[in-house]
Parts: sequence; C-alpha cells; structure tokens
Amino acid sequence: MSKFLEIGIAAAATLLIAVQSAGAQDAAAGEKLFAKCKACHAVGEGAKNRVGPHLNELMGRTAGTVESYRYSKAMAKAGEEGLVWNDETLKTYLTSPKAMVKGTKMAFSGLKDEGDLANMIAYLSTFSTATESAAEPAAEEAAAPVEAAAADVPEAAVEAAAVAEPAAEGAGAHLKLGRPATEEEIAAWDIDVRADGLGLPDGHGTVAEGEILFDENCASCHGDFGEAVGRWPVLAGGQGTLSDDRPVKTIGSYWPYLSTVFDYTRRAMPFGNARSLSDDDVYALTAYLLYLNDIVTDEEFELSKSNFESVRLPNEANFVDDDRKAEPQYADKAEPCMKDCAEGAAKIIMHAAVLDVTPEAADGDEAPAAGIE
Ligand code: HEC
Ligand code: HEC
Repeated sequence: MSKFLEIGIAAAATLLIAVQSAGAQDAAAGEKLFAKCKACHAVGEGAKNRVGPHLNELMGRTAGTVESYRYSKAMAKAGEEGLVWNDETLKTYLTSPKAMVKGTKMAFSGLKDEGDLANMIAYLSTFSTATESAAEPAAEEAAAPVEAAAADVPEAAVEAAAVAEPAAEGAGAHLKLGRPATEEEIAAWDIDVRADGLGLPDGHGTVAEGEILFDENCASCHGDFGEAVGRWPVLAGGQGTLSDDRPVKTIGSYWPYLSTVFDYTRRAMPFGNARSLSDDDVYALTAYLLYLNDIVTDEEFELSKSNFESVRLPNEANFVDDDRKAEPQYADKAEPCMKDCAEGAAKIIMHAAVLDVTPEAADGDEAPAAGIE
C-alpha cells in the first residue's frame, strides 16, 4: 500500500473518532475544546484574568462584572442591560460572540457545532456552584439569527486562537522521515512570549541593573537615553506624535505590549550578538526601557515574571481587532473568489511602462536592460 494511501486512512480514522465523540454531551470533551479558549481565559482553582476574564462562577453571573477586569464598553453595557450567563445565553454568545454582543473585544469567531457548544457549556458549569440549567431553547429561534451573522466572522481569529494538538507519537517514524526533536531542541526554539505573559522564563531585574547593561551593550547604537545614535532605531520618546506627518514610533509611543520588548531584546539584541543575554539581563533591560519611556519612574522598580502582566504600554488601547470583513466593501462577498474569477481568457489591460517603471529596451527587439539603478 502506498504511504499516501496509508496516511489518508489514518486521517479518516481520526476524523471518525472526532465525529463519534462529538455526539454525547460531556464535560470531558468540553475540557479538550477549552484549548481554543485557553489562550485568553483561565478557569479552575486560582484562575486569574488573562486576555479575557476568568470563567469561574460563570453560570448566573451578570455579563461584564468580573472585578478588576477591563471589559469593552459593549460587554459592560450588555451586563447593565441585564445579560446574565446561562445555558441559553452562553450558547448564543459562543456561537458568534460579535453577533450577540456587537463590539465585544473577544476575538473569537465562535463554536459552530451544537455538540461542541453543549460540551463546552457542560465543562464551564463544573466551575460554577450556581449551575443554572435552562430549559431546552427552541432550536429554530436560537439558531436562525446567529447563523446569518456567523458568515462575517473572520476565520483567522479561530485559527489564531486554536491551540494545535501535539502530533501523535512516532508520526515521523511512520513516514520514515527525520526524528523527533529533542526536548533541548524544542526548548531552544520555543522562546516566544505572548502578550498575556505565557512563555516568560523565570527571572527578574531592576531599572538600575538595566541601566548598567544598557550602557555597556546597547547605548552605542540606541543612545544613552534610547534617543538613538545616527540612524539606529529610537527606543524612547515620540509620545503624542502618532498623528503627525512623521510619527516617532517607539516602545513608549506606539508598541501595544511589553512582551514584544522582552521577546525582541531576548531574541535579537544586542545586534550582532543575539541570544547572549541571560533571562535576568533581559528583565533588567526591559525594566530600563520602561524607565526611559517614563512608564515606570522608580530606579528600584524590579520587573519579574510575576509582575510582568501588570505593566501596560500606553498605546495598547488604540489597537483594535481587525474586523474589516464588516466594512461595506467586504460585506456582500464574505467568501473571496479564489478561482476562475473573471470570465473568458485573461487580457492584458495595462503595461508597467505606462507607470514608467520598466526600463526602455535599447533598440527594437533587444531585451530590456537588467538591474536597478
Ligand atoms: C482571543 C482571545 C479569546 C478567546 C480565544 C476566547 N475569548 Fe472569551 N473573552 C475574551 C475577551 C477579551 C472577553 C471580554 C469581552 C469584552 O469585554 O467585550 C471575553 C469574554 C468572554 C465571556 C464573557 C465573560 C464575562 O465575564 O462576561 C465568556 C463567557 C467567554 N469569553 C467565553 C469564552 C469561551 C468559552 C471561549 C472558547 C470557546 C472563549 N471565550 C475564547 C477573549 C477570548
Ligand atoms: C550594533 C547596534 C545595536 C546594538 C548594540 C543594539 N541594537 Fe537594538 N537594534 C539595532 C537595530 C539595527 C535594530 C533594528 C533591527 C531591525 O529592524 O531589523 C534594533 C532594534 C531594537 C529594538 C526594536 C526597536 C523598534 O522600535 O523596532 C529594541 C527593543 C532593541 N533594539 C533593543 C536593544 C537592546 C536592549 C540592546 C542592548 C542589549 C540593543 N538593542 C543593542 C541595533 C543595535
């Protein structure tokens, strides 16, 4: 049997298992599905707010009311207007968050499968003492408006949020290709830090420690105060210039998340000697960059894994979800055409020469001069 056929059969078998297990409504299946939510939500003992609010005691809770979590105006308003989370409201919300709470900042396109929805709600209920079991909602009533709206939810959001299942053991061996990466290899490669702090290494460093490191390793290019030497990048300042003709985009004026500062420095700096800094060094340098940007003012401020998430960059709120599919020019063609989009054979309607970018041929039928001046 050919390898490809074998793979095809294996894939079909996996699919079958997935389909079978989706039939019953159970919390265990919901727990697996929660991988889609984990990027943003925590639930269970000690769960904290992350990108989204924690989901403990969700059943019977008024929407938008977890203390110390900053909701969108839309979610806060939905709560004020009486939205309470129960089987029925969760089902509608999780099918298409943006269709139910217009303007919610939950960037998740929704769960479309009835079974998935039931399992997810069953799972979340296990973390609520006041489990509210609403009567079966009239199916057509609940499904119709939601389905219509589902079409304009960007697919990319789900893909970004979905956490891939680890590949089955020995998949490579089956194909007789390569070998599994060792733990060390994976650890060396897997160093990204996410906006919510996931991936941060243990460590800490103060502004004062960072200043010494910065003077030694960074100031030669970025300037003593991050103002930059010559044309090397500016790392501080620029506040209030974003609407100017020539905005100065720095960590303080423009960047949305501190995790990028940490990750960038750890991954790529100092330029020419990347990955030479210890994790403590990177914490200290990140703390110093906050100081240079007036985001912290105390030289004794210590940045660490545990307080990292509490630091917010000033421009974070000006970044918004990309929901351009809701804009008028996309509204009526949610599915872009990818094949045979124009009728008939392709026609040349314009030459680059018209735009004056194609070098003239020397004479007659000789090829155009190559190269860019
Ligand atoms: C990309 C991040 C992200 C993902 C993925 C995500 N959420 Fe959310 N969720 C949020 C944010 C942010 C909010 C706050 C919404 C607001 O304020 O408008 C939220 C709000 C909620 C709320 C309302 C909570 C309240 O206190 O009112 C529920 C319920 C919820 N999410 C459930 C889920 C479930 C279940 C999943 C997985 C199927 C999920 N979310 C996936 C970010 C996310
Ligand atoms: C030899 C010059 C040089 C040194 C030394 C150097 N950098 Fe850089 N840095 C650069 C260059 C060049 C870039 C832009 C790289 C690019 O865009 O690909 C950069 C970009 C950055 C950025 C992103 C800036 C932005 O707005 O895009 C940060 C943060 C940064 N460096 C931090 C540091 C820190 C911290 C150190 C010291 C540990 C350091 N750099 C040392 C040359 C240097």
